[in-house]
Amino acid sequence: MDNLQMEIDLTTSNIKISDDVNTWEEVNLLYNSALKQITTKIEILNEEFQEVHRYNPIEHVKARVKAPESIVKKLKRNGYESTIENMVRYVNDIAGIRIICSFTSDIYRIAEMISNQKDIQVLTVKDYIMNPKNSGYRSYHMIVSIPVYLSDRIVNVKVEVQIRTVAMDFWASLEHKIQYKFEGKAPTHINSELYECARMVADLDARMLSLNDEIQAIEEQMGK
Ligand code: GTP
Ligand code: MG
Repeated sequence: MDNLQMEIDLTTSNIKISDDVNTWEEVNLLYNSALKQITTKIEILNEEFQEVHRYNPIEHVKARVKAPESIVKKLKRNGYESTIENMVRYVNDIAGIRIICSFTSDIYRIAEMISNQKDIQVLTVKDYIMNPKNSGYRSYHMIVSIPVYLSDRIVNVKVEVQIRTVAMDFWASLEHKIQYKFEGKAPTHINSELYECARMVADLDARMLSLNDEIQAIEEQMGK
């Protein structure tokens, strides 16, 4: 088989990965490349959106490759040995990108724009806005697969995409800090206060969205 024609899929579980990806350096290179590609795609979509609709749906984007220690910890927690093969197969968030936008409606627009990209395959979707977590956590999650073009092969790489509003992000970062401090066992009153704050965040997002809709309608009437 011509090497250039060879396509490796790190997203399916029925192929032998260890022959093609041997070292942490290779894993790091692949996931970093996947993040660069998806970040560029998102920038292009944002700029195009700005051209067409006269506003930026995206406030900012954060991308990171998970630290090796955290990958090993996660594998251990789920009862897997720390091998490259297990990393690639079982850890979906080695490459992670977080997209922060202004309004809840932007979240679904962005998710749709990403899904519509020909070379991006959506593997799973978790809508924690329609179905918030017990903690109160709200965000839209997708695991996608994106092709990375190397000199002699194409590798499909998984990326976890989290899309949320500025307000949801504010809540999630404080909640994360608190859970980290208490090692996931925060006192009940703190958890219920956090839950109440999450409800307020959802209410705030809804009110800001309806204000924005109203302003846009007025602008349209004025022919701006
Ligand atoms: P992990 O094993 O934690 O990665 O979760 P999962 O495989 O069940 O996937 P899920 O989509 O539920 O969560 C993925 C990521 O979303 C987490 O790594 C966090 O970054 C974020 N997340 C999920 N739940 C919460 C939460 O209750 N609070 C905060 N702050 N972040 C959360
Ligand atoms: Mg995670």
